[in-house]
Amino acid sequence: MLRHLMTAMFTTKLLFTPTAIIMSALLRDIETAANEKLDQPLRDYLNRGAMDDLTLRANREAFSRLRIRPRYMVDVSHRDLTVQVLGHTIRAPICVSPFGLNTAVHSNAELDTAKDQFGTIMAVSSGSRVTLEDIAGAEPSLHKWMQLFIYRDREVTRDLALRAQASGYKALLLTVDMPVLGLRYHNQKNNFTNADNRVNYEPYGAGARVADNATWADVAWLKAQVDIPLVIKGILTAEDARLAVDSGADAILVSNHGGRQLDSAPATLEALPEIVAEVGRECEVYLDGGVRSGADVFKALALGARAVFVGRPVCWGLVHSGSEGVKSVLEILYTELDNIMTITGCPTVASITPSHN
Ligand SMILES: Cc1cc2nc3c(=O)[nH]c(=O)nc-3n(C[C@H](O)[C@H](O)[C@H](O)COP(=O)(O)O)c2cc1C
Repeated sequence: MLRHLMTAMFTTKLLFTPTAIIMSALLRDIETAANEKLDQPLRDYLNRGAMDDLTLRANREAFSRLRIRPRYMVDVSHRDLTVQVLGHTIRAPICVSPFGLNTAVHSNAELDTAKDQFGTIMAVSSGSRVTLEDIAGAEPSLHKWMQLFIYRDREVTRDLALRAQASGYKALLLTVDMPVLGLRYHNQKNNFTNADNRVNYEPYGAGARVADNATWADVAWLKAQVDIPLVIKGILTAEDARLAVDSGADAILVSNHGGRQLDSAPATLEALPEIVAEVGRECEVYLDGGVRSGADVFKALALGARAVFVGRPVCWGLVHSGSEGVKSVLEILYTELDNIMTITGCPTVASITPSHN
């Protein structure tokens, strides 16, 4: 479908209309067009990382450095990009990372993303401007996970987790890489705050601050509070992957918060192999951070990720053209992954192996 549209746009010279740009261009064009709509403080808030952006850049550089080893003369006439994530089949191994956006970046971010016209998993941020119940009510068929933290008042953690479970969220995504906010100097310089995204916390007051005394014992405790799977987000070492699994984690999302927390943290693609080696036989491992093309998805899968999550590209799609933009971003990644799989001799996701890197 996308391919037909692209061909039609080229041949009918529609290439430079806004719709045509989004359907036919690379993700970079959507990024550029989205950023042109934002002023400097918003661009910085969305795009930049902590301190000197070392980890932000490292995420991209790690993907750029890695090459793909293609295998030819394989029957790739029928391809299947579907994959199972915690038992749920999705169209392709491409999911949506949680993000708390400022109203000025996009006025309807949560609900537009939740429309999910692509058919994947959306991780909803606890830092949204729409309650988790309202998102669930608006899009009951959306396959959603709820991102949360361990809070100073553990009852807040428990209550949020139970609210998510009661509202039909299929997993909890516990972010562990933010005992304190990373130093994002650009936001300070720009006098930028994101105070409008605490609606989920309204019932709780001061106890809903992220805890800086959380330990793996809290993970084991949280696991015991709910019946839905618990995924740990923000793991960057084999040691923590082991502790997470031993504390009851059902899956791990290798993440450095898109370079927004610890500057000098490893690129996620660099961290992935040691984590897969440590726990990959016991649980699913996912990755986010710097995924910008189907080739990037392929590389992460070849290194053992079950699926990837994308953050900023979805935000760019939103800023560009709302839910249509989100769909387009995911469709572009899908089309590129399908193309790469075809050229490398991989008709299924399972046929992508370490020998391809
Ligand atoms: C604007 C923005 C807001 C974010 N908010 C959250 C959040 O509320 N919770 C969280 O766990 N991660 C948050 N993240 C991190 C993302 O979930 C994800 O780890 C990161 O964006 C992935 O990297 P990528 O943007 O390069 O794809 C945020 C990222 C961005 C860009």
